[in-house]
Amino acid sequence: NNSRKNTMWNYWTYFAKGIEYTLLITAVSVCFGFVLGTLFSLMRLSKIKIIHLLAVWYIEFVRGTPLMVQVMFVYFGIGTVIQAMPALIAGIIAVSLNSAAYVAEIIRSGIQSIPIGQAEAARSLGMSQHEAYRYVIIPQALKNIWPALGNEFITLIKESSIVSIIGVGDLMYEMQLVQSATYKGVLPIFIAMVLYFVMTFGLSNVLGYFERKMKHA
Ligand code: ARG
Repeated sequence: NNSRKNTMWNYWTYFAKGIEYTLLITAVSVCFGFVLGTLFSLMRLSKIKIIHLLAVWYIEFVRGTPLMVQVMFVYFGIGTVIQAMPALIAGIIAVSLNSAAYVAEIIRSGIQSIPIGQAEAARSLGMSQHEAYRYVIIPQALKNIWPALGNEFITLIKESSIVSIIGVGDLMYEMQLVQSATYKGVLPIFIAMVLYFVMTFGLSNVLGYFERKMKHA
């Protein structure tokens, strides 16, 4: 009958709120992750040994531990110091810190993909090291970095689902609320899955559009 057919529609606000939080956490974390990741990549390329090592250790440690553990550590760990830290803030901090390590490697490999001859040519034209980076290396590196950064954005849409374990109301968390409210096990999961796909596929098309535009620029 009709009311049964409409069951899931009655819970669309749950899914809408979940999507909103998932996109919020992802977008904010991509921004922080990019800033921090740039910092770590430059630290890693630094000739000062201790700065280089700090960046290497950070990157290796973060990439060598599960995001799930990091999320719990930030939430409960900082929670013992700062009372009543909102789960949303903890989730954003953890996902940002995680992403920074991956972004650092994306940026480093982007910079290193520019042949050394480019820097040498710039220097031989009288540019300082800083100018060579600013006007020759970074603009070319960005072209290589951009698609990988887009992938990181897509990855975070999916991986941010783990913040549901600390009670952040992202899509995965809201999906579980719908499960409890409707006593339906599978359908809410299926809907969340499709919604995740719409987000990643949509974003991937948008990014592909800009990528094609940049190729012709
Ligand atoms: N499932 C992976 C982990 O637990 C997530 C890694 C996050 N990846 C990323 N590109 N930020 O480590």
